Amino acid sequence: MLRSCAEANHLPRVAEFYHGKSVFVTGAAGFVGTVLLETLLRCCSGIKSIYILLRSKKNVQPEVRKEQIFSKKIFEKLKEETPELLDKVHVIAGDASLPNLGMNEDDVQLLVDEVSVVFHCAAIIHFTKPLHFILKNNVLSLSSIIELCRKMRKFEALVYTSTAYSNSNRSNFPVKEEVYRLPFRAEKFLDALKNEDNEMLQELIADCKPDWPNSYTFSKCLAENVIMDTASDLPVAIIRPSIVFSTWKHPMPGYGEENSGIAALSLGTGKGFIKVLYADPNCKLNLVPADIVANAHVLAAWSAGTNRCASPLVANCTATENLHIKLCEYDETMTRLAREFPLPQAFEQHSNLIIVPYKYLYYIVAAYYHYLPAVVLDVMLRILRKKPRVYSMYRFFDTVMSSLNFFLFRTFQFERKNLECLDSLIHPEDRKDLALDFRDATFLGMTFSLPEVAPFYDWKIDRKSQTDRQRIIYKRHMLITSIQGMFLVTCCLLIYWVFSSIFC
Ligand SMILES: NC(=O)c1ccc[n+]([C@@H]2O[C@H](COP(=O)([O-])OP(=O)(O)OC[C@H]3O[C@@H](n4cnc5c(N)ncnc54)[C@H](OP(=O)(O)O)[C@@H]3O)[C@@H](O)[C@H]2O)c1
Repeated sequence: MLRSCAEANHLPRVAEFYHGKSVFVTGAAGFVGTVLLETLLRCCSGIKSIYILLRSKKNVQPEVRKEQIFSKKIFEKLKEETPELLDKVHVIAGDASLPNLGMNEDDVQLLVDEVSVVFHCAAIIHFTKPLHFILKNNVLSLSSIIELCRKMRKFEALVYTSTAYSNSNRSNFPVKEEVYRLPFRAEKFLDALKNEDNEMLQELIADCKPDWPNSYTFSKCLAENVIMDTASDLPVAIIRPSIVFSTWKHPMPGYGEENSGIAALSLGTGKGFIKVLYADPNCKLNLVPADIVANAHVLAAWSAGTNRCASPLVANCTATENLHIKLCEYDETMTRLAREFPLPQAFEQHSNLIIVPYKYLYYIVAAYYHYLPAVVLDVMLRILRKKPRVYSMYRFFDTVMSSLNFFLFRTFQFERKNLECLDSLIHPEDRKDLALDFRDATFLGMTFSLPEVAPFYDWKIDRKSQTDRQRIIYKRHMLITSIQGMFLVTCCLLIYWVFSSIFC
């Protein structure tokens, strides 16, 4: 429930709310976290400090990772216009899955003394990793964040990034903007997790029905329950994005990241690697622009911190009609894009995705389009004394897709009243940069802004020039077509031989 505009008129506006305050952000190296960080710096320049929790990754230390974040294209404008703002960002080394978020005592004290607003975006978005690992990262981390918030002397608001699919185990639509309760209190799960009591954990989960399609979505539902059971007395907001797509307007249209959800599938098809998909072509994807998701976070903290809404506020941050698109329409637009703007590091010529809704038919079509060329190409790689990898890449793709199948056969409907109410509270001046109304965003428009900005369109990542790459792709295409042609001819000859030996 949100307060009316009239009641809220005397309360501070967004930039005023953040002025002189320090903020703590987890997951800032990820897609959503990066866009949020940029939005906070750009729209709330009076902010005192932003502390970002970063862990070492692949031997890259947190301080170096901060520079990697700032080297992303999304910060270009900010670096040009107000570079001094970047000095407000400070690294806190840690790991959210560890007790006390893996931070040293001095850093804990710094956050306790300084921070007023917390954004917890960090999460493992992996559908095939073991349950215990996912829960440690996605649920225990939130519990540590809540403990930290309780110690903070100036604490004003916590925003937790959930997902619109946290209740994907239910079939009654629309999904409401409320926390769907588990049959047991969240503390029971937390105790089992902390004590590494896997047996108890499995028993508890087995009693939570209906089943979730994967451990990631379950972890998000459990995390929401952790908020209800251990933090409902605090000013908290839960933002539930659906599928986060590129930025629509701010700071520039078309910023997306390679590893982010739907991008991985689009890149696989755009680069001509994925040709067949097991899915319902009429299933609708629910897309939301990344800048809208970031705005929703900034506004939710402002709203919770100024008592504009009852706590916990749950807001589904999901598609408007224009961005609720059928999978077949999605593919058509992506095909147009790949034809007009070829991607660097492509595998083969892009063709329309064959979307097959029947499992056994999919096996046959995938065997012909994916596995047959893969086996022959791997043999050729072996002969050339190179590592065979095409077959294993298709196996990996199928494993990942099998955990996503559930979402490629269901069209979800979400209530989105709270996002609209939040939008109605924004002052017209604030709305210029922090809008939540994206009815005008179209999929075609957003897609065709990708080549300009998205890092996966930067030809510098490809060691070969565009012309060389196109030549290689053409040769590979001819090779794969010949392999498939020879296979078909062999099959025809075989059938002819069988028939002729029976009837002649
Ligand atoms: N992308 C979507 O379509 C989508 C949709 C709905 C909801 N969401 C939610 O939005 C949030 C952000 O997603 P995203 O797309 O930005 O994902 P992302 O790009 O994978 O980023 C996740 C970030 O979390 C960090 N992280 C994970 N475990 C951590 C740990 N133990 N300690 C410290 N940092 C840790 C990762 O750090 P490293 O870089 O060190 O690995 C990474 O920077 C998540 O909560 C996700 O559930 C995303």
